[in-house]
Amino acid sequence: MTTLDLDAQLATLQQDAEQAIAAAETLDQLEQLRVKYFGKKGQLSSVLGGMGKLDPAERPRIGALANEVKTALQALLDRQHENLEAAAIQAQLDAETLDVTMPGSYRPQGRIHPLNGMIDRALDILVGMGYTVAQGPEMETDYYNFEALNMPADHPARDMQDTLYLSDGNLLRTHTSSVQIHYMEENEPPIRVISPGRVYRRDTVDATHSAVFHQIELLAVDEGLTFNDLKGTVRVFLEALFGDVPIRFRASYFPFTEPSAEVDVQWNGRWLEVLGCGMVDPNVLKAVGYDPEIYTGFAAGFGVERFAMVLHQMDDIRRLYSSDLRFLRQF
Ligand code: DAH
Repeated sequence: MTTLDLDAQLATLQQDAEQAIAAAETLDQLEQLRVKYFGKKGQLSSVLGGMGKLDPAERPRIGALANEVKTALQALLDRQHENLEAAAIQAQLDAETLDVTMPGSYRPQGRIHPLNGMIDRALDILVGMGYTVAQGPEMETDYYNFEALNMPADHPARDMQDTLYLSDGNLLRTHTSSVQIHYMEENEPPIRVISPGRVYRRDTVDATHSAVFHQIELLAVDEGLTFNDLKGTVRVFLEALFGDVPIRFRASYFPFTEPSAEVDVQWNGRWLEVLGCGMVDPNVLKAVGYDPEIYTGFAAGFGVERFAMVLHQMDDIRRLYSSDLRFLRQF
């Protein structure tokens, strides 16, 4: 091999490469050219492979020439790379032009269901009054729902709360009062606890009744608690919730409290019962092993749906379960 051959090969390579690089239309093509000419098995390497056969005196000149060719081609590659990149960005910008006259895309906004909102609001107030939240199961045994709450098997008061029985003898709880028993079994006085939850009744559905509804139970047990503490607590709570809506206490009966009361709030021009309450019956305290000579307690069961109806001036409890977005979007 003569130096002339290598001179000629380098010249041809340079010419070919210059044309090919200038003609490259995409960054991919350019990368393929880089590999073709400069890669390990590329053309420049194979030309330089022939150097070994040269007269040693000629090697430095050819080596230098090869470097020049390489530098020149590299510069060309770099420039073309910049050009193609700029063109690609421009093409993307052109393709992505923003049409400001296009209609916007609509994303519906989620809302908290008025019942959950009501529970949150009530719990906020009660937590602020020093109560902590406890939960209990919706499926209950007869013991927790009735018996431990001073309603033995043939007690006539069971008629007040007919429920849905499961085939295994368990039942769906008729009230959150069952959580009182669970909580007292696990804890010692002093107690200040609230428990929100779903309850079930075999009830005829109408504007103020539902077979499934929500209650918040309140229980306080301590030394020296009186009916006065109960009244004050209920009053402060209802005022925080409703402002100065008129309320009235009405003497009532519950097997698990003595004395007992119901509280009504003005709604739709009439009184609506929103909660039951009373002093925890000594039998209930005994059932969980508390000494009723030492401790007294008061309890209340709030009707969440009724609260929502009063607060939002709703005419019918069934609206809360209808999933009618025209209704729910108001809250
Ligand atoms: N559990 C009663 C009901 O569902 C409401 C109730 C009344 C709860 C008096 C109480 C209470 O804690 O003391 O109708």
